[in-house]
Amino acid sequence: MNLYKYRNVPPRASALLESLRGMGYSIETAIADVIDNSISAQAENISITFHWAYSQSYIAILDDGIGMNEVNLEKAMKLGEISATCKRKEDDLGRFGLGLKTASFSQCRSLTVSSITEESGFQCLRWDLDLLASQTDGSWLLIEGYVEQEKFKQLPLLEQNRGTLVLWDRLDRSFPSNITERDFLDVIDSVQKHLSMIFHRFIEDGDITISINNRKVFSWDPFAKGHLAKTWATSSTKLVNGNGARIECHVLPKLEMLTNKEAEDLEGVNGWKEHQGFYVYRNKRLLVPGSWLRLGGIQKWKQDDIYSLVRIQLDIGNSCDEEWKVDIIKSKVTPPHSIRESLVRYASEARKRAQQTNKKNINRNHIISEQTPSSIWNCTSDNHYIIDRQHDAVVALSEQLSNIEPLSLLLSLIEKQRPIQRMWASEPDEELKEDPISPPSPEMYELLKVMYKNMISRKGMTHSEAIRKLNETSPFQQYTELISKLEEI
Ligand SMILES: Nc1ncnc2c1ncn2[C@@H]1O[C@H](COP(=O)(O)OP(=O)(O)OP(=O)(O)O)[C@@H](O)[C@H]1O
Ligand SMILES: [Mg+2]
Repeated sequence: MNLYKYRNVPPRASALLESLRGMGYSIETAIADVIDNSISAQAENISITFHWAYSQSYIAILDDGIGMNEVNLEKAMKLGEISATCKRKEDDLGRFGLGLKTASFSQCRSLTVSSITEESGFQCLRWDLDLLASQTDGSWLLIEGYVEQEKFKQLPLLEQNRGTLVLWDRLDRSFPSNITERDFLDVIDSVQKHLSMIFHRFIEDGDITISINNRKVFSWDPFAKGHLAKTWATSSTKLVNGNGARIECHVLPKLEMLTNKEAEDLEGVNGWKEHQGFYVYRNKRLLVPGSWLRLGGIQKWKQDDIYSLVRIQLDIGNSCDEEWKVDIIKSKVTPPHSIRESLVRYASEARKRAQQTNKKNINRNHIISEQTPSSIWNCTSDNHYIIDRQHDAVVALSEQLSNIEPLSLLLSLIEKQRPIQRMWASEPDEELKEDPISPPSPEMYELLKVMYKNMISRKGMTHSEAIRKLNETSPFQQYTELISKLEEI
């Protein structure tokens, strides 16, 4: 028998919504949150309109996704309709059932959502914070239909047979009354840069196009993928105990290897220093554009100029949201304990390489090119020989390959494995000293994987034949432990 009495104490609509406005969204993160919904709804085209008209300014986000019928639209407008613990479809970018409302109210006082589906036609519902504030009983009054005189704002959606239009009016947050048109244009510029970063993989893969005031948003590639002068990169690797998470390390080309335009692009919205570290993607959607995720032991790694070239792609799925503590704004994550150690291991290797590259940058005036301009070797002031990635032969070969990563790996391996001691033994009968064995590296493992795959799929070897062959091939025979890690395919 239940001994307790219960009271039903729903929150007052106006008070709750006014408080939720301060959740910490910026206009950039708020628009990204609305676009998440469009992508989850299989939209291919997302078109954003920023309309400047002083206090009448508005923002409209239109998509051509599957849309919502009347029942679903009402659910979408409700706070807390879906629990954060519900299992989501694999490609769903949502989690909390809040984003549409919290993101919108962080920017505007009136949110109108209209939707069209082929089966149920046009639907429109509207929240108005001023109307809710005037309700003394704190009720949740949702208005049916758009503002009569503002039908023109609905026209772009009405021309489609499916899709959704999210309309923000009374933009009191990012566009207070004293804002100038110039400020308005600056905001558009900043939103455009943010979206080209957050959704760059969707844009690159041709999944979606985004436009702002009819101008296409282009993707921003933080990793300079395919750049010939890339210092170091690994291919995508599944993390052990990572619940499907994958990692891919990149050390960007040294600045002197970049054109001004390339350097400006790669610098990104937040600059070299801020953009170093892990880039965490959830279903291809970028959550964190560079952070050391509070890793690195008690001291915790900080953003530091010397590691500006390190960018590490980390892919997680939407089933790990709780494990990774994804926040409502989708801009923060905390890696689970089970993989922190391997993240540190990968990142340490990348940081070490960036540090070496950076040292060479500092000494860049002292880099001595070999006398003959066509030499394939460049010699640095610390007597380190590196293969010139701009050499005609390297460039020509790279241009023939659809994926240049294996070539980069091979070149790095050759650089590391030159038999220096043997080369220096001038007389044939002089005693040959063995070259020191360099420690196994992720790059070495990546190259092993490429060779292994080639042996299996091209040469038709069995797993054990391939392993035996690798164990007999220099320099890999020194790394039997790495070879034994190769998984059978
Ligand atoms: N553009 C859209 N097209 C189709 N359905 C939409 C659209 N926007 C929102 N919805 C529906 O409304 C629901 C609520 O959206 P909302 O952004 O508030 O929460 P969510 O996406 O489920 O989770 P999160 O809080 O993590 O964003 C979505 O789950 C989706 O079903
Ligand atoms: Mg959402």
